[in-house]
Amino acid sequence: MDRLLCQLCALCLCAGVLASEKPNIVIFLVDDLGIGDIGAFGNDTLRTPHVDSICENGVKLDHDLAAASLCTPSRAALMTSRYAIRTGMSSVITSLMSPQGLPTSEHTLPQMLQEKGYATALIGKWHLGWNRQLLDQYYSPLKRGFDYFFGLPLSNVKDFGGKQEIMVDIGFTGKLYKLSAICLSTSLILSRLINKKIGVTMTIMSLILIGNFLFAFKTYGIWNSALIRNDRIVEMPLNLTSITQRLIEEGQNFIKSQHAAEKPVFLFMSWLHVHTYMHPQPPFKGASQHGPYGDAVEETDWAVGQIMDTLKQLQILDNTLFYFSSDHGGDKLEHDEEGRLVGGWNGLFRGNKGDGSQEGGIRVPTCVQWPAKLPRRTLVSEPTSQLDLMPTLASIVGGRMSTVRSIDGKDILPLLTGDETRTPHDFIFHYTGDKLSAIRYMPEESGAVFKLHYVWPQWEPGTDSWASIGAAVFDGPILLPNPLLFDVARDPREETPLDTNIEPYASIVKCIEEAKLNHERSLIGARPNYKPNPLEFINPLRSTFVDYAWQKLSDYWSYLIQ
Ligand SMILES: *[C@@H]1O[C@H](CO)[C@@H](O)[C@H](O)[C@H]1NC(C)=O
Ligand SMILES: *[C@@H]1O[C@H](CO)[C@@H](O)[C@H](O)[C@H]1NC(C)=O
Repeated sequence: MDRLLCQLCALCLCAGVLASEKPNIVIFLVDDLGIGDIGAFGNDTLRTPHVDSICENGVKLDHDLAAASLCTPSRAALMTSRYAIRTGMSSVITSLMSPQGLPTSEHTLPQMLQEKGYATALIGKWHLGWNRQLLDQYYSPLKRGFDYFFGLPLSNVKDFGGKQEIMVDIGFTGKLYKLSAICLSTSLILSRLINKKIGVTMTIMSLILIGNFLFAFKTYGIWNSALIRNDRIVEMPLNLTSITQRLIEEGQNFIKSQHAAEKPVFLFMSWLHVHTYMHPQPPFKGASQHGPYGDAVEETDWAVGQIMDTLKQLQILDNTLFYFSSDHGGDKLEHDEEGRLVGGWNGLFRGNKGDGSQEGGIRVPTCVQWPAKLPRRTLVSEPTSQLDLMPTLASIVGGRMSTVRSIDGKDILPLLTGDETRTPHDFIFHYTGDKLSAIRYMPEESGAVFKLHYVWPQWEPGTDSWASIGAAVFDGPILLPNPLLFDVARDPREETPLDTNIEPYASIVKCIEEAKLNHERSLIGARPNYKPNPLEFINPLRSTFVDYAWQKLSDYWSYLIQ
């Protein structure tokens, strides 16, 4: 008996040690934050001491890249370590009524950690799909590897602040006016030419259709603004005033409860700031030198500190891997209802959110700290990608990566620890939507980071940004008759194209073209990519509104039969 107890004890101890060896993992991903907004990346007027301390106490990735320049594809890539073009997620999901989402067949980062015994939570924005059919929450984070979800299935947008601008921004309002004009004039002509009754019927039908669209546009900010806890809608529309505080508390409580249960924690803080609608709260409101945008950045930094404090209090900061980044570049020309600029700053880089191949659209301010394993004050200037997050964490926890699918990320742990000094990537492919728009090539021992551009953005004249994100998405970049080659390492603003008619650049282009062919071959048979469709906005059956009404009705029913 004693021996058995002893053996059991040894087992317990052993399990305890193993569990404590697994680091806690916290990802803090900010929405639309520019690389030029962070102190550690050169900003001297915004106060970001907590983020700066992550860089100070860990590794600063000075050449880190988002896999896309818009939320949905960038996040889909981070979650799967695969370019969004492979998973059908290259477009932004614009409505909760969209029947699309991250396919269930994908193996995700949280799933990989769940398989290794992690307690996993997503706090904040999801934006990778919701209902596929009526009320089924088919694409919920709970079915993608998260044990707990508190946040928004979509994204914070201006409409949530009552500004109703998303439809204008993405160009649907203009289309609606055209549609109305066509419908009404056709009905009018028909009633004159053929038969008054047919004309009147058609007019009524047109009015219903147009009314439907108008209603959907005007109420977009209500039924896309749902706050969810696991599978329940807890608030609709979302209260932006209190959300920041609530997200922090949810994150802290998750860490505390899982720590008490002796489980390693994977917490994904998918932050609502600094996407418009800006909603900074006192004492940050009005406190920065950069208007509501700056206030929101400084509040974000404070939130990072709040989560850090919890880890410190529990004395688990040492063995916690804390990863801070943004989902892509800042939206430089974004403005609010008063015309103030409320988009991020991309430092010296040209381009903005929506520019999948321009540095400003994809360079992100990433810092990783893990005091137990990673060196302090370390700078990695080799190109890395958010695609690398999943394989790197898999290598840390001994997790599984798919062997049958193309995985585009690499394990960069050796780069973080300093055991390796060269990027594991030879090529990185840059997409804008579903179009391959540029390729990065890092030849060994050259120190160069070549980038061959196939397209070029149509920036607002006199600037290096799109006039609006709608223009970037709908007008799109133009095809270059002759691709342009730059060395980003020497020419980060990409202003001086290299002469590809002479060596060594002619051979560099040849190499890149070969890699392009191989890459394209690897895409044969990939899932077709989803494109947003205006009809999604008027499909009430898939809306959270119906969900909410149904939920309330069933609550009432259970109350009645009690
Ligand atoms: C700091 O960030 C603000 C807000 O985005 C920006 O306007 C300013 O130019 C940045 N400063 C530097 C030195 O990059
Ligand atoms: C939103 O939350 C704030 C702070 O908790 C509260 O004062 C306000 O009344 C709430 N607004 C609504 C519409 O519930």
